[in-house]
Amino acid sequence: MYAIETLPRQVKLKRIALLTSGGDAPGMNAAIRACVRAAHAEGIQVYGVRRGYSGLVADDLRLMSPPSVANILQRGGTILKSDRCEPFRDPAVRAQVAAQLREKGIEALIVIGGDGSLTGAMLLQQETGFPVIGLPGTIDNDVFGTDDTIGFDTAVDTALGAIDRIRDTANSHDRLFLVEVMGRASGYIAAYVGIAGGAEFILPPEQAVDIDQLSAQLRSSQKAGKFSSLIVVAESQQPGRTQDLAAQLSAQGFEPRVCILGHTQRGGAPTGHDRMLASYLGAMAIRYLLAGQSNIMLGVQHDKLLPVPLSSVVHGHKALPAHVLEMAALLQKRSAPPGG
Ligand code: F6P
Repeated sequence: MYAIETLPRQVKLKRIALLTSGGDAPGMNAAIRACVRAAHAEGIQVYGVRRGYSGLVADDLRLMSPPSVANILQRGGTILKSDRCEPFRDPAVRAQVAAQLREKGIEALIVIGGDGSLTGAMLLQQETGFPVIGLPGTIDNDVFGTDDTIGFDTAVDTALGAIDRIRDTANSHDRLFLVEVMGRASGYIAAYVGIAGGAEFILPPEQAVDIDQLSAQLRSSQKAGKFSSLIVVAESQQPGRTQDLAAQLSAQGFEPRVCILGHTQRGGAPTGHDRMLASYLGAMAIRYLLAGQSNIMLGVQHDKLLPVPLSSVVHGHKALPAHVLEMAALLQKRSAPPGG
């Protein structure tokens, strides 16, 4: 259970807006529902913005009644839809958006999304003074200032389901599999899936792969009588990384199979953990707004829900802790992960 602050009610609010932005993440709907329900309990109207910042630019906002969020808690995706909006990178567009929101009597905006979306939120408030609160929503878990993001737990579970199935066929055929997981430049999904799925090797994006060392380790496993291996490869920002590795391993005499989990990791019903996280974050966003706070993201640190200035979120870098890879290596009975 999360620890939360008791917050004084400092301001009255009549109308706020809410959007989801960037890659969708399971649990976004639970956060939408929590915002709408908690706002309604305080007599605040919530306008849902369609398709993230694009909907703000196009002035595509609809009033959300409490029944409009019934039965969405358990659904993946986002009922508000999402996208990555190029025009919102332009300060003039952000100024126009703030003016449009003010004209409608909207007093604050809640943004649910990852790094890029929270950067847009910070710039909107910095440049126009329009109050914004961010909630971390991304499967990548790469947002600085929070231990956890909405969707990460579900994505890990989804990938694990696939890994367990691949393990069956890998064992049956004594095969080597490279399983690619998402995460962009962050290795959180790869590390969690690799450890919890018992992968023989984890190749996080932060680490260059020494193919000779990896081949040598695979050969020594084979000598020891272990012919099936599962390597979890983080997609990284290098397109085709897994296919390249497979080609390099083939050149070394292996016959690897590649399975790219891709967008399957973004869909599906959120886990109980993500539903709880999203529900708390959504409800608390309303309380922080009523306490007169904005220009913050609500994050979780050591099970405490707390506000983090958007500027530190956006400028910080959340690295994968060294102990995660050490743990992975320990459990694979190797002294060090393959890498440069
Ligand atoms: O940020 C979430 C994420 O799923 C990343 O893991 C992945 O690299 C990216 O989005 C894929 O984006 P798109 O859906 O635009 O292809």
